[in-house]
Amino acid sequence: MDKVPYHHPVMVHEVVAQLPAREGLSIDATLGGGGHAEAIVQELCRRGIEKDSFLIGIDQDSDALAEAKKKLAAYSGMTRLVKANFQDIAEIVAAFRASRSNHMPVTFILLDLGVSSYQIDKAERGFSYLREGPLDMRMATDSGTKASDILNSMDAHELAGIFFRYGQERLSRTIAEAVCAWRRKNGDISSTGDLAAIVRGVVRGKEWQVKSLARIFQAVRIVVNDEMGVLERVLKEGTELLDQGGRMAVISYHSLEDRAVKRHFSAIARDDWGPKGVGLREPLRRAAFRTVTTKPIVASEDEVRSNPRSRSAKLRVVEKIETQAEEPVP
Ligand SMILES: C[S@@+](CC[C@H](N)C(=O)[O-])C[C@H]1O[C@@H](n2cnc3c(N)ncnc32)[C@H](O)[C@@H]1O
Repeated sequence: MDKVPYHHPVMVHEVVAQLPAREGLSIDATLGGGGHAEAIVQELCRRGIEKDSFLIGIDQDSDALAEAKKKLAAYSGMTRLVKANFQDIAEIVAAFRASRSNHMPVTFILLDLGVSSYQIDKAERGFSYLREGPLDMRMATDSGTKASDILNSMDAHELAGIFFRYGQERLSRTIAEAVCAWRRKNGDISSTGDLAAIVRGVVRGKEWQVKSLARIFQAVRIVVNDEMGVLERVLKEGTELLDQGGRMAVISYHSLEDRAVKRHFSAIARDDWGPKGVGLREPLRRAAFRTVTTKPIVASEDEVRSNPRSRSAKLRVVEKIETQAEEPVP
């Protein structure tokens, strides 16, 4: 029987097309099974710039690193895989440069947000309402708060806030109250099956149940992994690391993530005209970045057909502007 692939990377050609045409340091900050990382190093080799290029792969999940290590074995001389949260990207780059006594410029950063198919399909990780397992949902299995800790400690008001904010679930309050009623009757919620049964118990109709289940599980996962907080930090720190002409590419699957990416990219690609109404002729400061994608790039129809996960994917790219060297004053 064929082995189930770890993860089908989304929009690989579209991502590789964003690689700047120069040697330097690429960072795949969401390594997963290494599909995008492999395509990136292959492209660097195809262009003949592998000697002065390098890729750092970051993931907080040990299973992902083990899988990517196998995939990238042939490129071990030009890759380093790091188990870490991508919010620590600046420290990771600093440690890499120190270890090689080389200030390699950062030319490309990729973020392919969320969880991999492997993480979702593995019942014991607790990400899926379709699979009975412990209610865990941590991407880094060795640290942090589990989904069950959140569901068993928060009151109905707090839970409803999470379900509404991160899942846009219209029955947030009803579901939150059902969680608390379940706890009073049965004690702690410990499995994906418990949470799924609570949602099914208050949402009428199979189709609505499936939508609410997806939204509630997603909302809890976002909180467990502080996904919005770490995204804000990596957007800021990552873009600050980019060298001139360097690019950051982000694939998001959720409207909140996409909004955060869009907002950050527009903010850093805007000239600073000072306070409103001053009427300056020149901006106080020219933007140091330009948005490469005014509209997000989406997957082709063919890709959506063969990989349904790509349906909601949005790719946005920003580039650090190359500044011209100033003319020497005669
Ligand atoms: C959608 S998958 C990436 C798949 C990958 N592009 C590939 O080609 O296989 C997202 C991966 O990012 C990791 N991840 C998500 N948030 C992270 C974070 N804050 N720090 C480090 N890794 C993270 C997850 O553990 C998961 O393996």
